[in-house]
Amino acid sequence: MSDGSETSTAQPLDEKIIELLRKAKRVSVLTGAGVSAESGIPTFRGAGGIWAKYDYRKLATPAGFAEDPELVWEWYQLRQREIMKARPNRAHEAISLMERYYPEFTVITQNIDGLHHRAGNSTVLELHGNIWRMRCDRDHALMDISEPLDHIPPICQCGSILRPDVVWFGESLPTDVLDAASRSASECEVMFVVGTSAIVYPAAALPVLTKNSGGCVIEVNLEPTDVTTYADVSLRGRASEVLPELWTAVVNPESFIK
Ligand code: OAD
Repeated sequence: MSDGSETSTAQPLDEKIIELLRKAKRVSVLTGAGVSAESGIPTFRGAGGIWAKYDYRKLATPAGFAEDPELVWEWYQLRQREIMKARPNRAHEAISLMERYYPEFTVITQNIDGLHHRAGNSTVLELHGNIWRMRCDRDHALMDISEPLDHIPPICQCGSILRPDVVWFGESLPTDVLDAASRSASECEVMFVVGTSAIVYPAAALPVLTKNSGGCVIEVNLEPTDVTTYADVSLRGRASEVLPELWTAVVNPESFIK
């Protein structure tokens, strides 16, 4: 890899970071909607983002669901169809290669699209749930689905309306998943923060845990975020370009020209 004009990184990678990545044993990756953007799944914020087009109060809150579960399910069906058409991109693939390299490797994602699993990652902590699972809030039943449902809203055996097993505004994250993510963030030597605006908490606090524990934070994003202010390295560009370039430099030392 060269750090010349053809690279998409804003801050050149120095050899120390590449060496750290080569030798590290415990690495975590926190991802957001930006990692799936190039698979054709829209991000939430900014022009063309989901929240510029749809009202989150109607579609992504417990109150919105109580008021009109059919509308909420219609919207999730729309997103499921979009996700079904999507394929993991080169950023997901690079992250899946990392899992094979590092003895301890965890993907912590805010995405509900399941693309990290489809790319081959096995340790994926889904902070905000998964669009391919539904649950009953009365008897706590969980059900996996593989395609959009024919009939909505779906009804549980107990008679209640099932909901998508995702986290909505105003709800807490699943405690076991958040605990595992916090542990991973505190214990890793390196955390990549990829394609997230880092404004939604508690996910946004995870790289701070890494930093405070003496770990190295490497951000990959099209634009600066709050993470940029404390990241050790900020790589500016598309995740599908930056991550494969970076990974080539790690596993193929000859490709990295200072
Ligand atoms: P956002 O839409 O808030 O942010 C997406 C980030 O990805 C932005 O910082 C973009 O600059 C960056 N980005 C876009 N395309 C990129 C690319 N090709 N390569 C690299 N970076 C790129 O999405 P999240 O941070 O994931 O929560 O949003 C966090 C949470 O807010 C979501 O999980 C969702 C939403 O409300 C819930 O629904 C609970």
